[in-house]
Amino acid sequence: MDFALTEDQEMIQAAAQEFAQNEIVPVAAQFDESGEFPTDTIRAAGELGFMGVEVPEAYGGSGLDTICYVLVMMEISAADAAHGTIVSVNNSLYGVPLLEFGSEAQKLEFLKPVATGEVNGAYALTEPQSGSDARNMRSRARRSADGGHYVINAKKSWITSGPVARYVILFAQTEDADGNDLGISAFVVDAEAQGFHRGKHEPKLGIRASATCEIELTDYVCPAGNRIGDEGEGFKIAMTVLDSGRIGIAAQALGIAQAAYTAALDYSRERKAFGDLIGNFQTIQNKLADMKTRIEASRLLVLQAAWSKERSKRTGSRNTLNASIAKLYASETCMWVAHQAVQIHGGMGYSKELPVERYFRDAKITEIYEGTSEIQRMVIGRLETDLR
Ligand code: CAA
Repeated sequence: MDFALTEDQEMIQAAAQEFAQNEIVPVAAQFDESGEFPTDTIRAAGELGFMGVEVPEAYGGSGLDTICYVLVMMEISAADAAHGTIVSVNNSLYGVPLLEFGSEAQKLEFLKPVATGEVNGAYALTEPQSGSDARNMRSRARRSADGGHYVINAKKSWITSGPVARYVILFAQTEDADGNDLGISAFVVDAEAQGFHRGKHEPKLGIRASATCEIELTDYVCPAGNRIGDEGEGFKIAMTVLDSGRIGIAAQALGIAQAAYTAALDYSRERKAFGDLIGNFQTIQNKLADMKTRIEASRLLVLQAAWSKERSKRTGSRNTLNASIAKLYASETCMWVAHQAVQIHGGMGYSKELPVERYFRDAKITEIYEGTSEIQRMVIGRLETDLR
């Protein structure tokens, strides 16, 4: 077994780290405060190939592997989790359905502009009455009698990048012209077309520079050519995409945890109390030791999940278990590490003068979106108890 990164992987990690530390860190606090979408840094990230890390060059991406993707996610999220969220939506939630289920024409028309960073994408699964219970959706797509288009009426909530997305992958319960149920299908919808409306913006606890809103479609006419995959295949597509997305969120959690740990470690080496550096106290060393250990365990799980995603690209097998394990463990580690980092900083950890309070606020979302910790436990538990 070889734990070393390849040359490509090392190069992309170094490039992402340099970009994140030089371009994102200096503006992170300001965008967190204002809640504005960081258009310029996101465009620059696109120009560097970070919006389509795994997308082949023919469709505007960097043509790299999932390990490269998690390294990019980790470095960008260590600088600012909100930027990490935007990168993850464009790469995974928007990119993967097109990459794995889209036609050649769909890849050229809808994947390329997002992979190059020209425009943003979004993924609309959640509805006001269905978050964890994702199948329970009310959005409807009715196929026309001639089969040429669908009329979609939908209400989606908590749509990350919704306020800025040009294209959205949207899931809806499909029916034929006579109203017969055909199951859930996936569509690419265009935010500039008639019938597409952006609703209420969500003010959030953390990842404040990542924009979130409701999306409503009223009598939206969607060409049949914009359906991704077969009719009724949408739920499988949504879940397959989350199996990829969750690895990215695990990497985001790892990045935030690493940043919080580094801040706490640095502080423990400079802050004095009772005539000594606090890093010399065993109580602080114990905290740092546990933080470091859990971070390194998360790193292995994230890399293992990315490695097994590469294997499943070759074999066509599902990567659900490793993705959920990595997401569950890394996100809970992230929240716990950020909590310890605030504690080590004492009053300064509660102050907006330092980024630690932002890491703490940003950490929480990793335990909620792309499937809560409770859902990850349900997925893992079901797979483990299934009689095989
Ligand atoms: N891959 C492929 N197929 C899958 C699958 C997967 N990972 N998981 C389930 N399926 C298939 C099943 O095989 C089954 O197929 P058949 O009907 O052919 O047997 C079908 O889907 C239904 O499966 P379940 O019975 O397991 O479905 P369920 O209704 O019990 O739900 C669930 C399962 C895991 C709880 C799922 O609903 C889930 O993941 N919920 C969480 C939703 C979520 O993560 N939302 C996040 C929204 S996006 C977001 O957060 C983005 C953001 O802001 C950045």
